Amino acid sequence: MSREATHGLRCSIQRKSRPAVVPYWVGACRLSATPWKGHEVLIKNTPGIASSEITDEQVYLRRRDFIRLAVAAAAAPLLACSGERVAAEPAGGGTFGSAQSPLTGYKEKAIATDEKLNTFDQITGYNNFYEFGTDKSDPKRYGGSLKTSPWTVKIDGQCNKPADYHLEDLIKPFQLEERIYRLRCVEAWSMVIPWIGVPLAEVIKRAEPTSKATFVELSTLLRPAQMPGQQTAVLNWPYTEGLRMDEAMHPLTILAVGLYGKTLMNQNGAPIRLVVPWKYGFKSIKSIVRIRFVSKQPTTSWMEAYPRAYGFYSNVNPAVDHPDWSQATERRIPAFFMQKTLMFNGYGDQVASLYTGMDLRKNY
Ligand code: MTE
Repeated sequence: MSREATHGLRCSIQRKSRPAVVPYWVGACRLSATPWKGHEVLIKNTPGIASSEITDEQVYLRRRDFIRLAVAAAAAPLLACSGERVAAEPAGGGTFGSAQSPLTGYKEKAIATDEKLNTFDQITGYNNFYEFGTDKSDPKRYGGSLKTSPWTVKIDGQCNKPADYHLEDLIKPFQLEERIYRLRCVEAWSMVIPWIGVPLAEVIKRAEPTSKATFVELSTLLRPAQMPGQQTAVLNWPYTEGLRMDEAMHPLTILAVGLYGKTLMNQNGAPIRLVVPWKYGFKSIKSIVRIRFVSKQPTTSWMEAYPRAYGFYSNVNPAVDHPDWSQATERRIPAFFMQKTLMFNGYGDQVASLYTGMDLRKNY
């Protein structure tokens, strides 16, 4: 088994059952030259399908309304009313999943911090998105190949109202909010990012999970033709993450569709990604196509890749080191010096009670 990558999560890839692959090395990370041909695509994205065919009529009509509303809002003069903002320039239809366009009507600074924000260039130029490569600059360089419109999110599993939603339909019923959060990567770097999104709890409530739904599993799109990293076996694709139900319902947990007032760039997980600010960044899964309610704790991609390092919970915890490096400090991009890492990334007052009675050394 290979260990110690210098790129990305400095992953140790521990594969149990892989197809025959031709290994090669990127930095110290062992990759595979065999595309994932023959692997079943779990989530089929259906770009050609009319929205009326996969959503009920009401939802379909609401989507159309949303697009009209967004265009109207974009054409309106700039409003300066209590924390609400409307874009001054045309929103390009105001839809998600196309080229980056301004977002309208979001509640500014619904949650904020007095820490210095990272710049747009830092946030969009230094990324982890292994579907586009393991180097920090790969997602920006290669992310453009991903077509993010139209975009469908399947919600299924243990719930009364499973559905396939066009992205607009998924988001439209809810108030967009700006959430300025610290993002602490497990690799010991961090940033401060002004996300725009909706609480995941709202989306979950609409699906009416049953009492059997104790966990939520989230999956990234699987489309190797547009995500070249998926043609390698650096992880088990599609990238999969999970949360316990109470974590998913926590008010800090959001589905982000934008940052710095505009829809997400592909490198940041367009058109929709998770943000869980008290957990290591790899929990914040990008380009989500499926949200599934399950009764057993899901196995995530990183748990499969290196179980000793990456557990299901992955709460930021300066007292529990990664097997290969300390988690006591972090480098706030672009600073040179390290600063102390805070328990739960500084969100302990809000989230510590979720873990009362749990041994967080064992449940890393
Ligand atoms: N989601 C997917 N699908 N693939 C990835 O490689 N990387 C994770 C997370 N989400 C990743 C992902 C890691 S390790 C981090 S630190 C954050 O995304 C980085 O988010 P950012 O690039 O927007 O800062």
